[in-house]
Amino acid sequence: MRSTIDVPLTVDRESGVPLAVQVAAQLREAMRTGGLRAGERLPSTRGLATLLGVSRTVVTDAYQQLYAEGWLDGRHGSGTYVADEALPYEKAEGRAVHANRGGHREEAPPGVVDLRPGRPWVLGYDTAAWRRAWRSAGELPLNAFPDPYGHPELRELLAEHLRRARAVPVGAGNVMVTRGTGNGLDLIAATLLGPGTRAGVEEPGWRAARRIFASRGAEVVPCPVDEQGVIVEALPDDLRVLYTTPAHQFPVGGRLPIPRREKLLAWARRTGAIVVEDDYDAEFRYDVAPLPALYGLDPGRVVLLGTLSKSLGPDVGLGWLVAPAGLLDAVAERRVRLADRTSGPVQRAVATLLERGDLDRHLRRMRLEYARRRAAIVEALGPYVRGDTAGLHVMVALPAAVVPGLVRRAGERGVLLDTTEPHHHGPPRVHGLVLGYGSASRADVRRGCAVIRELIPPEGA
Ligand SMILES: Cc1ncc(COP(=O)(O)O)c(C=O)c1O
Repeated sequence: MRSTIDVPLTVDRESGVPLAVQVAAQLREAMRTGGLRAGERLPSTRGLATLLGVSRTVVTDAYQQLYAEGWLDGRHGSGTYVADEALPYEKAEGRAVHANRGGHREEAPPGVVDLRPGRPWVLGYDTAAWRRAWRSAGELPLNAFPDPYGHPELRELLAEHLRRARAVPVGAGNVMVTRGTGNGLDLIAATLLGPGTRAGVEEPGWRAARRIFASRGAEVVPCPVDEQGVIVEALPDDLRVLYTTPAHQFPVGGRLPIPRREKLLAWARRTGAIVVEDDYDAEFRYDVAPLPALYGLDPGRVVLLGTLSKSLGPDVGLGWLVAPAGLLDAVAERRVRLADRTSGPVQRAVATLLERGDLDRHLRRMRLEYARRRAAIVEALGPYVRGDTAGLHVMVALPAAVVPGLVRRAGERGVLLDTTEPHHHGPPRVHGLVLGYGSASRADVRRGCAVIRELIPPEGA
């Protein structure tokens, strides 16, 4: 094992790019291309800082970013190492899901590559940790009076997780444990919406949000997005609720910049609307610094929804709803009336995963894996890729006329694709593919992207 690295690193003080970002980018590239291999030790922060002539904070920040993305492993004070690549994911090839029966997706047959969005990799978790979590759930006595807010210890653990992972200044008193984003959104809709109210959903946007609002009697108002996210100037003044995905717009992929976040909250304060922030895949972020959650910028006007559906799997059925205390109480009251609750044993199992750091470890491994799949997509389809800084999907921008034929021909070659069209409420205005890399192995992602690249006509650029 080498104790120092041979990778040439430089910093450019004139470039305007923060030095820590420059150092992290070069190390990341070296790990991606094999210049730095799994298990290799990085220099100490002091050593590298001296070598580069920068402050130690620059190197510490770069290491921390790479650690958070899962590229690096700290081993109990004995140094910083390139994380192991020996993940179980690549071995378990192609357990993708396919056909659509009653809106329900199933496992794809061998050889089919499923690049449709919406599903995480459900093979990469630590089975020993999972079994341990369920043993602890099995020790819990059955409870005849489930708490509509959730188990107090899990609310505490989720608040701590949010403070740490998302820098959201939140206490357990503002957290309700739900069965996922859909459940949380429905509870908000049941509390705040009804006939005669108007509810905004990003356009294009998450179809389930539109259906949930409509099923509670609200009029759904499509609110256009651009490549950065929701367009604040286009929001009407009479929305009771606005559903938005600022961390990674679904499906276009924008990350709402801070000035626009502030403008959005000023709009909400002026109109009295509640902003529902769907933070569904915010744990996965690549090459960019985190942006503050809307909830943290104005906890009085925002409801934050989180889920384990992307980080662990939708089958777990666990999420969280963070809201101002008054609204949270109203939601809890409504929940009791609807006889709605989150399973106690599931809450106990998830609490164990959080308490023991198993979820954090899983997230770090998955960040690394997803970063590599995402890099494979960017490598193959670079100029067409949009919205690739976060999450488990990217958009591939293509002329409208190219899309249907390409999807059909890809299907004939065993590559299943989704497009932006069905995510619109009104006439499609954004055109291209919505490429998910959650449920396809890295090899399958490469295979699928090569097929797409071949099928893009030269004038389609
Ligand atoms: C935009 C968006 N939000 C949230 C979710 C997850 O919802 P749930 O937590 O109900 O599984 C999904 C899943 O596909 C999604 O696409």
